[in-house]
Amino acid sequence: MIGVFDSGIGGVTVVKAISDTLSEYDLIYFGDLARSPYGNKSPKMVTEYALENTKFLIDKGAKIIVIGCNTASSYATQHISEKFQVPIFEVVSPAVQSSLQVTKTKNIGIIGTRGTIASGVYKRKITDINESVKVYSNACPLLVPLVEEGWLGKPETSKILKKYLHPLKGKRIDTVILGCTHYPLLKSVVKRIMGKNVHVIDSSLSVASSIKEFLLQSPEIEQKLSKKGKLRLLASDITKQFEKMAKSILKKNVPLEYWRL
Ligand code: DGL
Repeated sequence: MIGVFDSGIGGVTVVKAISDTLSEYDLIYFGDLARSPYGNKSPKMVTEYALENTKFLIDKGAKIIVIGCNTASSYATQHISEKFQVPIFEVVSPAVQSSLQVTKTKNIGIIGTRGTIASGVYKRKITDINESVKVYSNACPLLVPLVEEGWLGKPETSKILKKYLHPLKGKRIDTVILGCTHYPLLKSVVKRIMGKNVHVIDSSLSVASSIKEFLLQSPEIEQKLSKKGKLRLLASDITKQFEKMAKSILKKNVPLEYWRL
């Protein structure tokens, strides 16, 4: 089984990308709704939650862990990798790789939660690979609630997004990374605001291709994964909004199972 976790609703975008790319593999998802959001919490708290979520998924039989949440990827990847023996994927590095492959102006923009942007992890990873790249970032704390309210196409959302993207405009940016699980749902609005010449990188798609690549090169791990194409969605709280969003992101009805950690 491939295990994916996130603070809650948004991680279903990562599940969707992985199950579209690797449809034959069994997938188990844990959404930590009871303790979400992670984006405004301290590194210590997010790391603690992320370690518990990882243990939970491994106990349930996951042989690979995907940290679907950008904030948890930013703060907790190293701690998780040190503590657990299974391969760990996070959503930051694959998006960094994708952005470096497409940028020509070498000016990259990042949007994410307060935690992700404050951690500086995107900037660090980008400049570690290519120090001539300039990175501009902005935290967008209002976007998660707007997405969860389903305000995707509302003029108010577009206005707020314009304000958040304003500092990134006029910086010769040709690539913007959507550094949060919720933002793929706002991809078309970001594209419209940034203009058609700007690449918009969706980290859920980037992580799905990097897992695919890894499995091709690691037959010993690949063989351990069950392949019945099953998907389980577990959560530490189940709300009507979660049910609605999961159904609309996955474009099918998957029963939600309540689990306490
Ligand atoms: N999943 C979080 C992330 O990608 C966004 C939602 C939250 O703040 O928990 O950073």
